Amino acid sequence: MKFNWQGVAVDGSARAGTMNTAHGNVPTPTFMPVGTAGTVKAMTMDAVRATGAGIVLGNTYHLMLRPGAERVQMAGGLHRFMDWPGPILTDSGGFQVMSLGALRKLDEDGVTFRSHLDGSAHRLTPERSTQIQHALDATITMCFDECLQLPATTEAIAASMQLSMRWAARSREAFVARDGYAQFGIVQGGTDPALRADSVRALLEIGFEGYAVGGLAVGEGQQLMFATLDATVPLLPATAPRYLMGVGTPDDLLGGVQRGIDMFDCVMPTRAGRTARAYTGFGQLNLRNARHADDLGPLEPGCACLACTRHSRAYLHHLFRAEEMLGPMLLTWHNLEYYQSLMRGIRAAILQQRLESHAGSLRRAWAGSGA
Ligand code: GUN
Ligand code: ZN
Repeated sequence: MKFNWQGVAVDGSARAGTMNTAHGNVPTPTFMPVGTAGTVKAMTMDAVRATGAGIVLGNTYHLMLRPGAERVQMAGGLHRFMDWPGPILTDSGGFQVMSLGALRKLDEDGVTFRSHLDGSAHRLTPERSTQIQHALDATITMCFDECLQLPATTEAIAASMQLSMRWAARSREAFVARDGYAQFGIVQGGTDPALRADSVRALLEIGFEGYAVGGLAVGEGQQLMFATLDATVPLLPATAPRYLMGVGTPDDLLGGVQRGIDMFDCVMPTRAGRTARAYTGFGQLNLRNARHADDLGPLEPGCACLACTRHSRAYLHHLFRAEEMLGPMLLTWHNLEYYQSLMRGIRAAILQQRLESHAGSLRRAWAGSGA
């Protein structure tokens, strides 16, 4: 079977569809929980499945350092190693290496960096990154790109984008096509519409199964991020999946879908869950707050997660105050359940051509103080 994305309904610029892959089908728009090191932190894979997640993300950078890509390959690939038979998308390492700052050195061919674990020297190139992602058996492989630290001059952003486009061509050369597998190009170019358009043109010339918008949610603010999507997404082919990398809050996801994005990933729901912060339909709340100490009601009435169906806010509060491991586990579960139910609701609204009114109700409820 071929990898593809099939549209089911359109509502304004938003699309509902199905992404078909070698490891199963995923309804879109979709949120991909982040499984950086071969685990969605604090979650069993059964729990991840129970939230309705259709695809998870893994990281080239972390897995190449520990346990090593070839070791994962010997163990039968990342699907079997982490017990996730569904689709896996792996990021290419460019973004993670950037966050090493002074520990990295960039040239035309690739990046040399020191491991954040033991200081050992490693090198990533478009070819090596693609090879590692194949060794992991990623369903969707991402191009190796450079993620520039902002602020930067327009000249620096242009040069970085052009380097990423040369690396995209090399990533494509190194990609070994297989039925049901895909490689996505990554649009760069900062918040400059002309550079974004140049980047889209370069990627379309190479040709990929899907297209990601990278280099956003790096401190530019939601307004500029949305403006950049408005200038970029309409240039992408209507027949291919579109992925907004590293985004974001529930409101960012909603705005992204309204601008034609099909896929998202972000550490927010999992990271927030580990620090007692819950996302709900009525906004964010912190379970460490003393006002929850005697609250025997559920975290979020109607939520299907284990934290909400079996436990009280008072118990969750206690777990975090006592620094018990179950606190992060239950709240991560809740946050992922919230993100998945948000995406299900958005998809249903697109199918019924009522996304705008649905978006209005979601935003009013988030802004209210029902928590
Ligand atoms: N994650 C968030 N943004 C990016 C990006 O621009 N490139 C890559 N490779 N990963 C990302
Ligand atoms: Zn819940």
